Amino acid sequence: MSLSENKQNKNEFGGLWTVEKLEILETYARQFLKVFKNKSSAKLLYFDGFAGSGEISHINNGIYNTIEGSTKRILDINEPRSFNIYYFVEKNKPLADSLQEMINRDYQSKKAYVVSKDCNEKLRDLAIFLNSAKGKHYKVLAFIDPKGMQLKWESLEALKGLNIDLWILNPTSGCNRLLKTNGNISTEWKNRLKLFLGIKEDEIMDYFYKPSSQQNLFGFSEIEKERDSIQKLHELYATRIKQNIFKYVTEPKVLRDSKGRILFHFFMATNNDIALRIGNSVVNPKFTKI
Ligand SMILES: C[S@@+](CC[C@H](N)C(=O)[O-])C[C@H]1O[C@@H](n2cnc3c(N)ncnc32)[C@H](O)[C@@H]1O
Repeated sequence: MSLSENKQNKNEFGGLWTVEKLEILETYARQFLKVFKNKSSAKLLYFDGFAGSGEISHINNGIYNTIEGSTKRILDINEPRSFNIYYFVEKNKPLADSLQEMINRDYQSKKAYVVSKDCNEKLRDLAIFLNSAKGKHYKVLAFIDPKGMQLKWESLEALKGLNIDLWILNPTSGCNRLLKTNGNISTEWKNRLKLFLGIKEDEIMDYFYKPSSQQNLFGFSEIEKERDSIQKLHELYATRIKQNIFKYVTEPKVLRDSKGRILFHFFMATNNDIALRIGNSVVNPKFTKI
């Protein structure tokens, strides 16, 4: 089979940070399931909003390989217990079909659903379900793993007050690219930033720009971008989640490329203080005892 045939319908490996992210998710999922080990009456739901195909294609020194994606890692956990329901959302139909095939083949005993829809729509449906009489009994572990800024702020708002531990990959580097150095951001990009951050245009400008120390030719002062805007992007996002939606957010795991440049901030939001403690210990294993 050729390389291109092999890669069909699989997500592509981003870099070592992909593995770091998946290890955190899996470690947390195991801890989460351990908490409910002797509580068989507790109904546990796993929701993956950007599920992928189940496998990630990886080429190392010209040799094609695959690694397990988030779905497979979570479906493989059986001890001390499994989730009662798995709900996978993947917008790309061929990737969703590959995931469905894998589940039909390898995980027939698990109650797993795959839907090829937009995660934002399904997060709203999740919120409706969890607010219903049946849904109130569920505890949820959710994973939001977009490559870019697909997650809308309003979708997060729908989750307010719910029993969810939500791991979010915050695409701080991609978002930072829209914040042009001279503040001259196109209307399209401003709209994307507003949908993602959930704030108005003037708030974005106030937060990320300051009057320039330089004057232009006619003496008018111009604006310049604040330093550490990637870090500020995460601080703003996490702080607003904590002020408006969830009670707590963990410290972020800063994910970097092979040259040390920041790509993403990976963190968890929750309403549960024990979950917060466990989440922080997974992000920073050296500093916190579980
Ligand atoms: C980073 S990949 C996910 C990888 C996966 N979590 C894994 O570990 O294998 C992001 C996935 O989200 C899908 N996607 C993009 N936009 C989406 C949306 N709005 N709703 C649902 N899925 C989306 C892409 O097709 C892609 O497969």
